[in-house]
Amino acid sequence: MFSNLPNHLAIIMDGNGRWATSKGKSRSEGHEAGSETIDQLMDSALEIGLKNVSLYAFSTENWKRPLKEIQAIFSLLDDFIDKKLSTIHSRGIRILHSGSKSKIPGKSTSQIDKAVRLTENNTRLNLNFCLNYGGQEEILNAFDRVIEKRIEEKQSPGKKLSQKEFEENLYTYPLPPVDLLIRTAGEQRVSNFLLWQIAYAELYFTETLWPDFNRSELIQALEWYEKRIRKFGGL
Ligand code: FPP
Repeated sequence: MFSNLPNHLAIIMDGNGRWATSKGKSRSEGHEAGSETIDQLMDSALEIGLKNVSLYAFSTENWKRPLKEIQAIFSLLDDFIDKKLSTIHSRGIRILHSGSKSKIPGKSTSQIDKAVRLTENNTRLNLNFCLNYGGQEEILNAFDRVIEKRIEEKQSPGKKLSQKEFEENLYTYPLPPVDLLIRTAGEQRVSNFLLWQIAYAELYFTETLWPDFNRSELIQALEWYEKRIRKFGGL
């Protein structure tokens, strides 16, 4: 169907709150609708043949939100895994988590660990949930990990760092760089998402709110991407 698909698609799923408000619903209901969009996106991604998809589900800055909303998001994640994990596994999807485990509620940490463990040998589609994720925090954490490993392995902590060694310590390893970043709901910023990985990504912004981001919206974004001429700094 596509001559040129992004090897890694990343999505900032924005607009759940506005979608809910426009319908007189609670913000939590907006996130619930957003979670259904994730479900449909998985089907579309498999059908289209996408290989790596990262979703910004909860940022390191989202802890500033009211507790009720935070609880609603993690409880949706728990339900999603309860309801979908066996289908996800049988369809060959591998679940990954990018972000810090600290602060994530215990039940959600177990759910994520269970999903990651069960699906670790699946190869059809990598679905990466970015939860308690911040791009700057990820970069700092990668440096810490490099230094810790060097100390453990009795290497010089001051040895010159290669791009390969650094990237192997990012949360997203072994996912490839992002080719296409989609942000829904009209904002045109990257909000601390995959800062290292989007170095040469094409950026696609749509006014559509995340709960309304259906298969045809995804196709539109991929058709737009297909026409991009990517030079990576060359001619
Ligand atoms: C941004 O919209 C959305 C989030 C911060 C949360 C995203 C969460 C989900 C899509 C559901 C979680 C479910 C699973 C399965 C992980 P916003 O609330 O900032 O929207 P607004 O800008 O319109 O207020």
